[in-house]
Amino acid sequence: MNIYERLKKDHETQRDLCAKLAETEEGSSERAELWDSLKEELEAHALAEEQVFYSNMMKKTDGTEHARHSVHEHQQMTEMINELDAMDQNADIWTKKFGKLSDRVIHHVDEEEADIFPVARDVIASETANEMTERFNERKKEAVSG
Ligand SMILES: [Fe+2]
Ligand SMILES: [Fe+2]
Repeated sequence: MNIYERLKKDHETQRDLCAKLAETEEGSSERAELWDSLKEELEAHALAEEQVFYSNMMKKTDGTEHARHSVHEHQQMTEMINELDAMDQNADIWTKKFGKLSDRVIHHVDEEEADIFPVARDVIASETANEMTERFNERKKEAVSG
């Protein structure tokens, strides 16, 4: 599995968790559990993606701007996650704000797959892209347990 397939696998998980969470009742234990899973997945994915994938893309002339853009979006999502985390999940406003985060997540993963990966395929050697997968898995595991 190359890094693109590996990242897409996580993106599918994220789309799925967002869709499931949107169906939950305010204040339900299901919502609390799905939120914990989504939060952990988003944070660990973004961290490992930056450390392994964007750190490489950042160094390429045609990759720098795309890498910066994505890292900026990661920061915006982290802020939204932290705000949601501090709020009451029973509140209507939480549901509305979660809807905004969910839109951001979907926009972000769609953009990575449609716009960023094609550029990366041009600037990152395919051998390097294959080697990234194992490091990505390691970093992600560290982020989850750390
Ligand atoms: Fe990302
Ligand atoms: Fe991603």
